[in-house]
This record gives sequence, C-alpha cells and structure tokens, in this order.
Amino acid sequence: MRPMNIEGYRQLARRRLPRGVFEYVDRGTEDEVGMGALRASLDSVKLAQKVFVDVSRIDLSTKVFDNPQAMPVIAAPTAMAGLLWHDGEVKLARAAKAAGIPFCISTQSVTSIEDIAAGAPGADLWFQLYVWENRRFTEQLLDRVRTAGVETLVVTADTPASPKKEWNTRNGFGIPITPSLRGAIDVAIHPRWLLGVLLRYWSRTGVPTYAHYPPEFKTRITRSAVNSDLRITRSMNWADLRELRRQWKGKLVVKGILRLDDARRASECGADGIVVSSHGARNLDSAPAPIDVLPAIADHLGSRLTILADSGVRRGSDIAKYLANGAKAVMLGRALLYGTAARGEQGAADVLAILRDELERTLGFLGEPQARKLSSDCLVPRPLAHANSVAGGFAARDPDRREHDDEAADPAGRRRGASRRHALRRR
Ligand SMILES: Cc1cc2nc3c(=O)[nH]c(=O)nc-3n(C[C@H](O)[C@H](O)[C@H](O)COP(=O)(O)O)c2cc1C
Repeated sequence: MRPMNIEGYRQLARRRLPRGVFEYVDRGTEDEVGMGALRASLDSVKLAQKVFVDVSRIDLSTKVFDNPQAMPVIAAPTAMAGLLWHDGEVKLARAAKAAGIPFCISTQSVTSIEDIAAGAPGADLWFQLYVWENRRFTEQLLDRVRTAGVETLVVTADTPASPKKEWNTRNGFGIPITPSLRGAIDVAIHPRWLLGVLLRYWSRTGVPTYAHYPPEFKTRITRSAVNSDLRITRSMNWADLRELRRQWKGKLVVKGILRLDDARRASECGADGIVVSSHGARNLDSAPAPIDVLPAIADHLGSRLTILADSGVRRGSDIAKYLANGAKAVMLGRALLYGTAARGEQGAADVLAILRDELERTLGFLGEPQARKLSSDCLVPRPLAHANSVAGGFAARDPDRREHDDEAADPAGRRRGASRRHALRRR
C-alpha cells in the first residue's frame, strides 16, 4: 500500500537508501536542537477554523513573480538529489512540472542544468547559486544558467561556514566520500540502491560528479577534496549582492534570511524576493525556526519583496501556516526527497499529491477557499511568552522596535498588526 503521509515516505526512503545517504538527507547538525525546534514551532502555530463558508471549491493556484502556479509550493534546491534515484533531479523536475510548480536546481546537483532541461521539457526551472571562491567560475556558471533560459536565480546566503554533521563523517558521507568497510557493507545491504542507482550511473556516465563544476575541475564525489576555487565563498558581502544584481537581469531571490535587517538590506540591494529559511535546520543548529521570524519580516517587507519560506514542512497544514504568516509560497526539501528516494518520479508526484490534498482539507476547515488569500486572520494569537521571546530578539536590532514591542506585549496589538498584515496582503 502506498504511504498516506510524508512520514510513510520517509520510512520507505530509510529502508531503500544506505544509511549514509539517508542520514545525509534526513538529519540536522550538531545536537539537532534546530530540528526539534523547527517541529515544535510549527506545531505551536494554531489555526482558527471558521464555519459556514462555502468551501465546496478550493483553489490552490497562485502567482509567484507573475508566473502562475498550480499551488503555492516550489521544489527546493537540494544538493546531490541525483544520488537518491537514478537521474533523481530530472525525476524531481518532471514531477514538479506535472504538478504545475517550479523546480529549483542546486549548484551541487549531479545532473547538469542542460540535462535537466532536456529531460524535463517545459519545466519551470529556477537555479540556486552557491557563489564560489573563484568569481570568474561563478560568472561562467551564470552564463550557462542564462543560456538554459532560467529566469529566477536563488542565491543562498546562509552557508558561509561548513555545518558540522558528525554522523556524515562517521558514515563516510563527508565530502569527499571516504571509502570504508562500514560504508561498503552499508551499500551492499541495500542492493536496490546499489543496482538501481550507483551501478546504473557507473555503467552509463561513470561515478556521479558535481555537474556544474568547470570540466577541468570535475571532482568525483568519492574523490579528493573540492578544489579551493570551487568552495562556497566565505567572503560574500552586500556589495557582492549588488554586483550580482547588476549581472543578473532576471528575478533574484536571496535564500536563508532570518533577520529583518538582512531582509531589508536584501531589498535595498535590489533583490526581488527572499526565502525565510533555516536551511531545514541543516546549518546553524541554534538558528530560529523560520515560522517565528517570518511574521515580522512579512509585515515590514511583504509589499516590497516576494517572501518565500521553508523548513520543516511535513503536512499540508504546515504550508498553510507559512502562508498565513506571510509567505507567498513555500519550498519543499526533504519531503520531496523522501518521495524520490522511495519511488523516483512517482514518489515525488505522490508527495506533492499528499500535500496538495492536506492543504485543501486545511483550507476547508479554515473557511478560506483560496490559498492565496490565507492571512493572519486564520491564526490563533500565539502565547504571550512565545511572542515575547520572538519579538524581543528582533527588537534589539530593529529600528521599528516600538511597534514590535507593543504588539508582543499586547495580544490585541498583535491582532492590530495582524489585521494590518491582512490588509497588506490583499493589496
Ligand atoms: C539533502 C539536502 C540538500 C540540500 N542542498 C541545498 C543546496 O544545495 N542549496 C540550498 O540552498 N539549500 C539546500 N538544502 C536546503 C533546502 O533547499 C531547504 O532549505 C530545506 O531542505 C527546507 O527544509 P525541509 O527539508 O525541512 O523542507 C538542502 C536540503 C537537503 C535536505
């Protein structure tokens, strides 16, 4: 029987993948405090159902950057998704196209943008950029992205340091992948993955590589440390973002924003959008959950920036919570990877169908037939203590602190903020 929910797909992925690969996808960093906080924060958001509204027709469609989408969801960029299923990135792009949503290719995919475009004709492809130490190589990559016809570039801002994933190291799944007896046994006891993914690549195109590296540096994932020219830069600053803005004529989105002041700077540098994201709690273990910082950012900048969000979505109601807190659409990372690892393109499609169905049911309960109209009107005000801790963090840095303080200290004030947000989003 097909799984009924994302957790079911997670369990299938766990069985199918070698432990090293599964944990690379599934886990967080350090003590995984961030993973727990992500779930706890999403669970603490309560939705206020409204009755006696005609919800016989639910409409999930929306527009992101003026492009119509069948639902307010985007397939997030995920490095090495092609290791979960043979041609995994192409399968993901095809599933996204069938569901009427964009697919964001990662700089670190194992299939190139050209091959993904060829394998998923007509897909709405975005590209996620990690800026490399060698800016000339980065510019050459941007040329490829332009030539492939991509309109939306997502530059990831939240990885200026390498996150500490101790189990990856233990499993031999660091970069480079370190051959070990433990790793060999892990692969050998997962023959479906060994035959269906690894040996299939081996026999057709050789050991998987980072497809976007310049040919002279193509480093097998199993071999030698990444050339220092191709390391994710640690020196990027706001002037670099302005320069990127100058070079990229399409839509520019900054991914990994968790502070209001950073969101403001991104806007000042000419970004068209941001992704309020903690990278799925895969980077800074102590980062806040995006759902906690999203309302203030959407409140202040929702009229200037297209605000997207991600991290922790496992149910359609999680999507509704992000939308109600000010996001225009939500990115999906692991949920789609579990589906892809379990059943390839069909699995990714199933995951999207499950989330679509759950989101529709949630909208029905909320008495809001149109997903794009979800607003803080359907949020139950969060407990005072929670509001205080969140708004307090901002107040220290935010020039508009009085407004936040007032709202945090006074649930009614929060409601006033909420209705203002409501008004803003309907503009
Ligand atoms: C296996 C994996 C690889 C990822 N690789 C990238 C990447 O290359 N670039 C990036 O910006 N984000 C990357 N992310 C983060 C996702 O884009 C997204 O922010 C995150 O997965 C959202 O959280 P979720 O997995 O709980 O949905 C990755 C996430 C996962 C799970």
